[in-house]
Amino acid sequence: MKKLIGAAAVGAMLIALTGCATGGPDAGSGGGGTDDLIVGFSQVGAESGWRTANTISIQGSFKAADIELKFSDAQGKQENQIKAIRSYIQQGVDVIAFSPVVESGWDTVLGEAKAAGIPVVLTDRSVDSTDDTLYESFLGSDFILEGEKAGDWVNTEFADATDVKVVELQGTTGAAPANDRAEGFRNKVTDPKFDIVATQTGDFTRAGGKQVMEAFLKANPKIDLVYAHNDDMGLGAIEAIEAAGLVPGKDIKIVTVDAVKDGMTALAAGKINFIVECSPLLGDQLVDIAKKVAAGETVEKRIVTEETTFDQEQAKAALPDRKY
Ligand code: AHR
Repeated sequence: MKKLIGAAAVGAMLIALTGCATGGPDAGSGGGGTDDLIVGFSQVGAESGWRTANTISIQGSFKAADIELKFSDAQGKQENQIKAIRSYIQQGVDVIAFSPVVESGWDTVLGEAKAAGIPVVLTDRSVDSTDDTLYESFLGSDFILEGEKAGDWVNTEFADATDVKVVELQGTTGAAPANDRAEGFRNKVTDPKFDIVATQTGDFTRAGGKQVMEAFLKANPKIDLVYAHNDDMGLGAIEAIEAAGLVPGKDIKIVTVDAVKDGMTALAAGKINFIVECSPLLGDQLVDIAKKVAAGETVEKRIVTEETTFDQEQAKAALPDRKY
């Protein structure tokens, strides 16, 4: 109880010092008045082409809206994100947004933001907190559905096969997209003819994907399919497969998630066989949500990004206009 009162007092003090209470006189409005609105954003890092596109989208949208964005790069470390969030609380920003590196371990710091009266918006990735009052909204993809879409393609592609050896390049351990894409895939790939012979994290990086795939190739005499949780790891796997004298997309089929330009180029060239889209273009929607929550307006608790899938022909058609 004492702790609660203490936290409330700190929150009240911060609000008094900064004049940044949610919906207060200085807050921006959903109607477009964004005078003095300040948003603090903590990004995961720069691990992939997707992440770079996401950072560009967010920074560009806030610039275009003329809203001050304080941006910090956590370099893949949860402790850096917690430090950044605490710093934003200290600075009394109007809204905190972040893309959590991992799903667990956020309740304490999110409780601090709540006590300080600062609304929090989750972008791209969610947290596993059971208390959904700790954040206003979660804007991002349905990662389980992405894994299921990959699984659906695998079922069709290998419909006539009897024995399919699968290796999985997982995203960062503990990250929502790694957990959910693994789950979604397994929801669909249930026929016993599929054997997931190896699964390991490549940390969503190209170098990680290459390194893990090299080890998979050494340890497994037969691999029919690579399921990579993102394009970058798939592109790393392509390098390892080619170095082993095999033909990616033919000797070993590859399905990935993201659909960034490099991935789509590899798909158009037949080195990747199928890509499930995960859109990084969250900037404009985040600006809209930030304005609304700062003005005390209610927003949807869950806003799911619209996404599609690409085969080789669809990638060729989409590439000329691909924004990222
Ligand atoms: O959270 C989204 C995932 O994070 C993307 O699929 C991946 O490329 C990124 O690093």
